[in-house]
Amino acid sequence: MTPGVTVHVVPDAPALADAAAEWLAQRIARTPALTVLVATGQTPMGMYAQLAERVRAGTLDCSGVTAVQLDEYAGLPEGDPRSLRAWMLRSFVTPLGVQTVVPLLDPAAFTGRLAALGGLDVAVLGLGPNGHVGFNEPPSGPDAPTREVALTPESLRSNAAYWSGLTVPTRAVTAGMDVILGARETLLLVSGAHKCAILSEALDGPETPLVPASFLRRTALTVLADRDARP
Ligand code: GLP
Repeated sequence: MTPGVTVHVVPDAPALADAAAEWLAQRIARTPALTVLVATGQTPMGMYAQLAERVRAGTLDCSGVTAVQLDEYAGLPEGDPRSLRAWMLRSFVTPLGVQTVVPLLDPAAFTGRLAALGGLDVAVLGLGPNGHVGFNEPPSGPDAPTREVALTPESLRSNAAYWSGLTVPTRAVTAGMDVILGARETLLLVSGAHKCAILSEALDGPETPLVPASFLRRTALTVLADRDARP
C-alpha cells in the first residue's frame, strides 16, 4: 500500500460506525489472519458493535485475527475495572470471536512479539484531544518507542469520562509511534466538535511532535470523521 491520506466525512457517529466496520470487515475478508492494533476509547465502540453484529449474523469470521493492544494504564492491580486490556477484551476480542491477543504490559516483550508476527497489518486509532495517538503524548516524535509515559493533565481529564467515580492512573504504557507508523494501513476515527481543531492540526498543520497524530500522514492513512469533527 502506497502512503497517502484519504479523508471520508460522514454525517454522524452512527454513519462513522458503519463506514469503519465496513472498512475493517473488507480487510478481514481479504486477509483472515489480519494483525490489528485495537484502540479503546469511546470513538470506535460503535464500529466494534457493528462488527460483532456481523459475526453474530455469520457474515464475518474474525477467528483468525490477532488483536494487538494499543495502550494500558501502568501499575494497575489484576482485575482493576479501569484496565484498557479488559476494555479491549469486552468490546472487541470476545464479541468478535478473536482468538489471539498480544497484550501490552512489558514493552520489550510486546516489541519482540510484534516483530515475530511481522508487524501490524492495520492500526485502528482514535485521536486524543491533545493530538495523542495511543498514549503517545505530545511531544512524541515518529521514532518514539513502546514505553511507559506520564499522562498529561489533558489526558487525565479526558480519560476521567471513562471511569466515573474512579481516579485515572497517572502513568501508562503505549505502543510506540514507531510501531503505529509501521502499520501497513491505518484507520483514524474522529467524532465530535471537540475534536475539530485538533483534527485540523493533525491533517492540515505541520508534522510536529507537538501533535503526534500529524505523523500519521506518512502512512497509508484513512481518516473517517463525522461532520462535527470535519465540517
Ligand atoms: C485516549 C486513549 C486513546 C484513544 C483516545 C481517544 O486517551 N489513550 O487510545 O484513542 O484517547 O479517545 P476517545 O475515542 O474516547 O475520544
